[in-house]
Amino acid sequence: MSLATHEMAAVGAHLDEVYSMLPFTPVRGVGVYLENAAGRRVLDLYGGHAVAALGYGHRDLSDALARASRDLVFQTNALPLEVRDEAADKLAAFGPPGLTRVFFVNSGAEANENALRLALKVTGRSKVVAMEHSFHGRTAAAGAVTYGALKSWYGFPRTPFDVEFVARNDAAALAAAVDSSTAAVIVEPVQGLAGAFDFSPAFLRAIRAACDRSGALLIMDEVQTGMGRLGAPFGAQLHDIRPDLLTVAKGLGGGFPCGAVLMPHEIASGLKPGALGTTFGGGPVACAAIKTVIDVINRDGLLANVRSVSAAIRAQCCVGPVESIQGLGLLLGLKTRVKAAAVRDALLARDILVGTSADPHMLRLLPPLILSTDHVQRLSSALEELTDAPL
Ligand SMILES: Cc1ncc(COP(=O)(O)O)c(C=O)c1O
Repeated sequence: MSLATHEMAAVGAHLDEVYSMLPFTPVRGVGVYLENAAGRRVLDLYGGHAVAALGYGHRDLSDALARASRDLVFQTNALPLEVRDEAADKLAAFGPPGLTRVFFVNSGAEANENALRLALKVTGRSKVVAMEHSFHGRTAAAGAVTYGALKSWYGFPRTPFDVEFVARNDAAALAAAVDSSTAAVIVEPVQGLAGAFDFSPAFLRAIRAACDRSGALLIMDEVQTGMGRLGAPFGAQLHDIRPDLLTVAKGLGGGFPCGAVLMPHEIASGLKPGALGTTFGGGPVACAAIKTVIDVINRDGLLANVRSVSAAIRAQCCVGPVESIQGLGLLLGLKTRVKAAAVRDALLARDILVGTSADPHMLRLLPPLILSTDHVQRLSSALEELTDAPL
């Protein structure tokens, strides 16, 4: 292609078309609203797949990012950084008791990839048990424990370890699957992509017990459920279940890409230099974002806010095309009588952005944790308007 032809190519003509996109192009965000170039404002109840924990244009976060990028835009893990130590201290304090060591990475998949690697190394075993309808990411190990990936997008000729999937809430199947060859059981406390499916607390406790019995490690994938989304710092605390490894990403940096694996001292102390590694993980701008997100959640009482806004959604939004609500905190699935995608499109036409899920009859809400009950009223009214709409 000549340079002239290249320059004339349509805007966006070079982007991979692997995502189906909605007809709204935001150029800025303020609080829980997105705005396009023409000034159209859309209430964002999807939060960029649960990433925008503090919403948009949050003063503390944008100041922290600006300051950190001015001070030192990047340094690797070859040099110590005060801000990295502080972020790790804050994250360990925010996380469940006992997970006192932090390994910073860049994404949810990378966090799970490393947690799975650790579990296989530490136990010397070869099998991982995962849940049906799970989603853990797109890399080789994370994709191997993602339900249905092998039949659709996985692409690698084989998985790096044996995997057994267990039906949700089936304690008998779980007990049969977790044996002396099991390195880990990996579970999302609430299955996000599946449609905000929340496991029974008894089943989650049964997973802990099966791991204790067999010597397998429990990996809680809190990439989507963590950082206050369920109304507690993590699902682990909400359910009072101690994981051996916990992974987090999405809301961790409030929009700045980052992730982490939390682990106990017993596992961390066995790691020699070089056992784990990554270039960008634990960079100064990411760590400034992590510190700020945790500070704001604590300072502004966002965990309590999540709980009260969640209760308001449950009380007011089972209307119009919605027949039931599942999930916890601000990770909610709204079961729809008609196709969820049709309801999503009708809501977007009314300036409200919601997500869909793997279940064609489940809308997914993942709003910023700063959402208020006034916004819930808007969603409820819009859903009511759709009662007789031909969807
Ligand atoms: C529970 C869970 N785990 C892992 C991932 C993968 O995270 P990432 O897309 O940052 O790699 C996701 C992403 O949606 C997720 O929801």
